[in-house]
Amino acid sequence: MTVPQARPEVESLQAYSAPLEGRRGMLRLDFNENTVGPSPKVVEALRAIPVEQIAVYPEYAGLREAVVANLSVAPRPGAPSHLRRVLQPEQIGLFNGVDAAIHALFHAYGDRGDTLLTTSPTFGYYTPCARMQGMAIEAIPYRLPDFAFPLEEIRTALAQRPPRLLLICNPNNPTGTRLAPEPILELAAAAPGTLVVVDELYEAFTGDSVLPLADFVATPNLVVLRSLAKTAGLAGLRMGFAIGAPAVIDRISRVTGPYDINSFAVTAAHAALADQSYTDGYVAEVLRARRWLLEQLQAAGVRHHAAGGNYLLIWPGSPAEEVERRLRDAGILVRSMAGKPLIEGSLRVSLGTTAQMQHFWSAYQRITATGTPGASA
Ligand SMILES: Cc1ncc(COP(=O)(O)O)c(C=O)c1O
Repeated sequence: MTVPQARPEVESLQAYSAPLEGRRGMLRLDFNENTVGPSPKVVEALRAIPVEQIAVYPEYAGLREAVVANLSVAPRPGAPSHLRRVLQPEQIGLFNGVDAAIHALFHAYGDRGDTLLTTSPTFGYYTPCARMQGMAIEAIPYRLPDFAFPLEEIRTALAQRPPRLLLICNPNNPTGTRLAPEPILELAAAAPGTLVVVDELYEAFTGDSVLPLADFVATPNLVVLRSLAKTAGLAGLRMGFAIGAPAVIDRISRVTGPYDINSFAVTAAHAALADQSYTDGYVAEVLRARRWLLEQLQAAGVRHHAAGGNYLLIWPGSPAEEVERRLRDAGILVRSMAGKPLIEGSLRVSLGTTAQMQHFWSAYQRITATGTPGASA
C-alpha cells in the first residue's frame, strides 16, 4: 500500500518539538509560562460560563476593542497613553496563540523561494513555518560574548538581499537579547518590501515595545505579536494577537479558520485583559525573583547570562542534560539548550516567584555539588 505523499516541503519537515507530556504537578521552569496561574477573575469567569456557550460557535464581538483598551492603558513604565487614538480594532488580529499567528503570517506572506531573515539562536517555531512554505532561511548569529543583536548584519542583509519576512524576537528567546524600538522601526522603514514581524511575547519584562512609537500608516510592513500565555497565564487556553496595518491583519486573518479560537479562551481573555493589575503584579514578582537568583548565581560564581525575559541561561559545571534529568527527578523542569548554536551546554531556566526560585536554587546547588565532585556551587 502506498502512503499518500504530502507536499515535498512537508515530507522533509521535522516537527517542532512541543513541551513534554506529564508536566503537571512539577515546578515548570522549562517553557517560560506563568508559574502561578491566571487572575482569580479569569477562573471565576470560566466557572460562570453558561452551558449554552458550549453548544454555540464562539463570538468575538468586543474582544479587539478590549485589546486596544488594554494596550492603551497599561500602567507599565513607558506605557503609551496615546495608543487609544492610534490603534483601531481592525488593527488587531486574534489567533489561537501566537504560534497560530506566526503560522498564518508565513502562510499568507511566505511563498516558495522567498527568504526568511532572522537571528540565531531564537524561538524554534519560525524556521519550521518557513520550511513548510518552501522558503529559504538566513539566520544571523547573535554576537558573542554577550549575545548582542547583530544590527549591522541585519541592515546589510535587508539592503543587499531583501527577504520576504524579517522575524525579530524582542527580547529574544532564549538569549534575552534586547533591542530598542528605534532601530526596529528604522529597519522596517528601510525595507518596505519586507514584512517586519516583532515577536514581543516577553515585552512585559523589559518595556522595549515598538508599539508606542509605531506608525502603521507610514510603515504598514510592521507587525507586532503579543500573547496572553506567558504573563497573564492563559498558555493552556491559547490566545495571541497580531497588531499592524488593517490590510496586513486582514491578509493574515484570511488564512485562519472562522472559529479557530474557542469561546472559553474568549471569556478568559476578556477577564484577563480587564485585570491588567494582576498581570503587572506577577511581572513585578518575577523581576524581584530574577534579582534574587542573579545575586545567588553571582555569589556562587556560576556562569550565567541574563538579559530580557522571564528566563535566563545557566552553564552548569557538569553536562547540562544530566543536570536537567536530575532536576526533573527532583520535580523541577528546566530546558537543556543542547543543539542550539552559541549556547550549547547551557540550561534555560524560566523565572517564577521568589519562593519558586529559592526552591530551584537549593535543588540546583545540591545536584551540581554532588554531580561534580569537589564543586562548591
Ligand atoms: C518567542 C515566542 N513566540 C511565540 C511563542 C508562542 O506563544 P503562544 O503560547 O502565544 O502560542 C513562544 C512560546 O514559547 C515564544 O517563546
